[in-house]
Amino acid sequence: MAATAVRGDYPFTDRDFRTIAALAHENFGLFLEPCKKQLAYSRLARRLRFLGLETFGEYCDMLRGPLGEDELREMLSALTTNVTQFFRERHHFDQLRAEILPELLRRAKAGRRVRLWSAGCSAGQEAYSLALTILELCPEVSKYDLRILATDIDPVILERAVQARYPLAEREAIPVGMRKTHTVTDGDSFVMSEAVRRLVSFGELNLMEPWPMTGRFDVIMCRNVAIYFDSATQARLWKRFADLLTADGQLMIGHSERLSGPAADELRNCGVTSYRKT
Ligand SMILES: C[S@@+](CC[C@H](N)C(=O)[O-])C[C@H]1O[C@@H](n2cnc3c(N)ncnc32)[C@H](O)[C@@H]1O
Repeated sequence: MAATAVRGDYPFTDRDFRTIAALAHENFGLFLEPCKKQLAYSRLARRLRFLGLETFGEYCDMLRGPLGEDELREMLSALTTNVTQFFRERHHFDQLRAEILPELLRRAKAGRRVRLWSAGCSAGQEAYSLALTILELCPEVSKYDLRILATDIDPVILERAVQARYPLAEREAIPVGMRKTHTVTDGDSFVMSEAVRRLVSFGELNLMEPWPMTGRFDVIMCRNVAIYFDSATQARLWKRFADLLTADGQLMIGHSERLSGPAADELRNCGVTSYRKT
């Protein structure tokens, strides 16, 4: 399908769009259909303005030049969204509390290693929601070998995640009891308690690249991330997650995502966009 003409001040040819789409796919598995040309223009025009460039042709040269690696990250950040919130898609946290965590905590108390992974964690709200849910069930969890790994490709958003400081308005999404015990207000923002922060380790990781982790995960949450990837990339990602789950591990994906490819044979649907290894 041919890309459409776009409105704007910076010349943006179909060839420029194809270059950007190819680089986004090669480096991040991002899928930019031709109909996304206007969207790409509006998201990237501010990069051109910031960099003092006059055409998308110059921008493509920069992406392929010596500064390309850093700018590719900026491009990804501009093309995707970091939108997230505490207890987003709450049904997953309800399922964790009622069905999954009691058994995982039993194992942790018996001395076993328990690991959860928030993959594509954005500013950390998803990982901290996991930590809050665990602490509600087991306030003394720090005595056990239970940890949450949270990763994202975007180093800027990860810096915010590590700070664990959020606008006060976001606090409303946290259940009252947890809010009282584990958040501290400070002017027009709030910070997560030490107990919550201690449970989570953040790291930079492009899901398209090799993963350094060797141990398996009991729960993997990768929600509203694969939505940007084409179907072959999604299927490969689901399979990599399935391979990294423990024998009865759980994969939770976003509300508009669907499990596909070989992983669909290895994981059984057991809740809304929630899958258990069989
Ligand atoms: C919309 S947020 C989702 C945050 C959270 N999982 C949620 O559902 O609320 C998508 C996140 O995926 C990250 N992301 C996009 N492509 C990625 C990739 N190839 N590897 C790792 N993270 C990626 C983005 O930086 C962004 O923070």
